[in-house]
Amino acid sequence: MKRSTIVFCGLVTVIIAVVGCSDVKRTRGTAYMPDMADSRAYETYSANPVFADGRTSQGPVAGTIKRGEEYPVHLEMDKQGDTANYFGSRALPNPIQSLNAEELKESERIYLINCGICHGQKLDGNGPLWKDGDGPFPSKPASLVGDAKYEAMPDGQMFYSLTFGKNLMGSYASQLSAKQRWMVITYIKTKQGKVAAPTATAVAEVK
Ligand code: HEC
Repeated sequence: MKRSTIVFCGLVTVIIAVVGCSDVKRTRGTAYMPDMADSRAYETYSANPVFADGRTSQGPVAGTIKRGEEYPVHLEMDKQGDTANYFGSRALPNPIQSLNAEELKESERIYLINCGICHGQKLDGNGPLWKDGDGPFPSKPASLVGDAKYEAMPDGQMFYSLTFGKNLMGSYASQLSAKQRWMVITYIKTKQGKVAAPTATAVAEVK
């Protein structure tokens, strides 16, 4: 092989190495068999064949408790077709009786992230997933404000539904701590006018 060819090949190799190696990663590269690298993803609200109950959003493992949980509640989930625990949960007292301005802001934040998409910013059950029936969600979310049934629903019963889900609404026990679930219920009760809201000035003062 001619010396110039060797030098040329060497130069090309060096140039490729210099250009090719960069600590700035702009593309993910090509995966030859992506299914081997990534597990198959299921949409949150779509049917999921992996779990026996067909849901993607699963509650925490039975009998476990989150580290640092402030308001542990012992609740049993009803067996299919049974409602004793659901109605029994009406007697559960809400440990968070009212919200100060800061807690109201935080509860609203939790509500808007987790619930607003279905129940709507105004809690009227008309969020972007429902949109008067034009949205992609197949079932009307509860009108938490303005519907006598939900206005009268005890906090404990709401807590049961947030913990275990209700028909097409999934469980929120994995996403929200017990304290956050009670807070968001007190937020709903505040919006229903059942719990006194902090003064507007106090709310405005919270950054
Ligand atoms: C994917 C849509 C969706 C999301 C997100 C959602 N919900 Fe629901 N929710 C529903 C539907 C649908 C119902 C009506 C269930 C039924 O009775 O068939 C419902 C019912 C309820 C009820 C009444 C439960 C009962 O026992 O009848 C409460 C309270 C409630 N939701 C609160 C919440 C809160 C708080 C959040 C956020 C942490 C939330 N929901 C998130 C769809 C949703």
